[in-house]
Amino acid sequence: MAENTTTTTTEKKKLFIKTYGCQMNVYDSERMAEAMGGAGYETTDSPDDADMILLNTCHIREKAAEKVYSELGRFKGLKAEKPDLKIGVAGCVAQAEGEEIMRRQPMVDLVVGPQAYHRLPEMEAKTQEGVKALDTDFPEEDKFEKLKRRPKAKRAPTAFLTVQEGCDKFCAFCVVPYTRGAEVSRPVDRVLTEARDLVERGVREITLLGQNVNAYHGVHGGGDMTLAGLIWELDKIDGLERIRFTTSHPNDMMDDLIEAHGTCDKLMPYLHLPVQSGSNKILKRMNRSHDRDSYIKLIERIRTARPDLLLSGDFIVGFPEETEEDFQDTMDLIKEVRYGQAYSFKYSTRPGTPAAERPLVDPAEANDRLQRLQALLGQQQKDIQDSMVGKEVNVLYEKPGRLEGQMVGKSDYLHAVYVADPAGKIGDIKRVRIVESAANSLGGVLI
Ligand code: SAH
Ligand code: SF4
Ligand code: F3S
Repeated sequence: MAENTTTTTTEKKKLFIKTYGCQMNVYDSERMAEAMGGAGYETTDSPDDADMILLNTCHIREKAAEKVYSELGRFKGLKAEKPDLKIGVAGCVAQAEGEEIMRRQPMVDLVVGPQAYHRLPEMEAKTQEGVKALDTDFPEEDKFEKLKRRPKAKRAPTAFLTVQEGCDKFCAFCVVPYTRGAEVSRPVDRVLTEARDLVERGVREITLLGQNVNAYHGVHGGGDMTLAGLIWELDKIDGLERIRFTTSHPNDMMDDLIEAHGTCDKLMPYLHLPVQSGSNKILKRMNRSHDRDSYIKLIERIRTARPDLLLSGDFIVGFPEETEEDFQDTMDLIKEVRYGQAYSFKYSTRPGTPAAERPLVDPAEANDRLQRLQALLGQQQKDIQDSMVGKEVNVLYEKPGRLEGQMVGKSDYLHAVYVADPAGKIGDIKRVRIVESAANSLGGVLI
């Protein structure tokens, strides 16, 4: 391996990025790779031949943060063999733990927070001089403006586009307001420019991202534009066929956005709207600032606008002081709402958050609740998926399927669908009748 460490000026250096956490980290990793492209790096799929390893990390639960340290431990051998290898930590663990990371893992050369990664090339240059680099500022300047325009390469037919970052909600369990900072929206014209660029490169579906994406209010002319306004602007882009957005907060679900679900054809009938708990007592202690009834009423209004909408949610069980009765309130809410997709977690104590000081639910009890909750959600998911059989949907092909002449892509409702279509190409949108429901996917035939 040692003989590979010498690079000539014409040879590109290799960057290996590993991404943890939410879709915003996926987007950020792409942007970091592009930024490092300007500094002479190309990406590689293997840490073994990398000149720089970057972990883009997540701090949301204890396990997520611990994973970073064990992963770093694994790179120790590599660094010993290859002293020029640079190791960097980005993302939410970088923001939350800063210098502590270098103290725990002295071989780390660079720590960069989610709002400072436009400075990555300068930081990398510093590490080349043998100096460690740390930047966890929330700078005044807009990192997206400092980053290079995204390269002109042909792209996959789907893409993420961050339009909003940060969170002002301060749920009692959550680190995001601390790691991502206050709510900020990108200006409308910049989002539209990026969207047009993506479409020119073959993108047909864009998922707008934000920690509270429906709190979006981007500068537009002399005023402000809501997320619904932005969606209607995107709707005008020829070649862009599908629009999605995530993650939304129930309190920011404004009338114009609900209405758009009924009137904008490009806006897909899928909504991720986390509720976390069905108990009013727990919702209050979580500082969610909505209650069970207001959430259910909101769902009714959204379903009136778009009756076939597929709803997705997030749930936490075992939040401090959650009783069996509180848990049953969550189970009842799930039965009332019916979710087509769901993510559920056992409460994890996060240092520095208000709930961290409170008494924990017995871990065995919390595990048991999580199992019961997941059994119910799994059954609902399966029932809703099975109910697609016989229906017609549009499928955007993302890649070839496992079988010869088969393509696989997502339906409007975000179900994975396999279709026998020897003439099918990546990026095609085909009308398909669903004929089969398997474990995690559907089978369809061309109409
Ligand atoms: N902004 C989104 C999602 C934030 S993080 C929202 O408001 O819903 C994604 C999910 O992780 C959350 O919805 C929550 O269900 C879960 N989560 C956040 N902090 C957690 C913690 N301390 N323990 C367990 N789950 C947590
Ligand atoms: Fe975290 Fe709550 Fe903000 Fe979502 S709304 S990111 S759960 S603090
Ligand atoms: Fe994790 Fe940060 Fe996303 S904590 S969920 S990577 S915003």
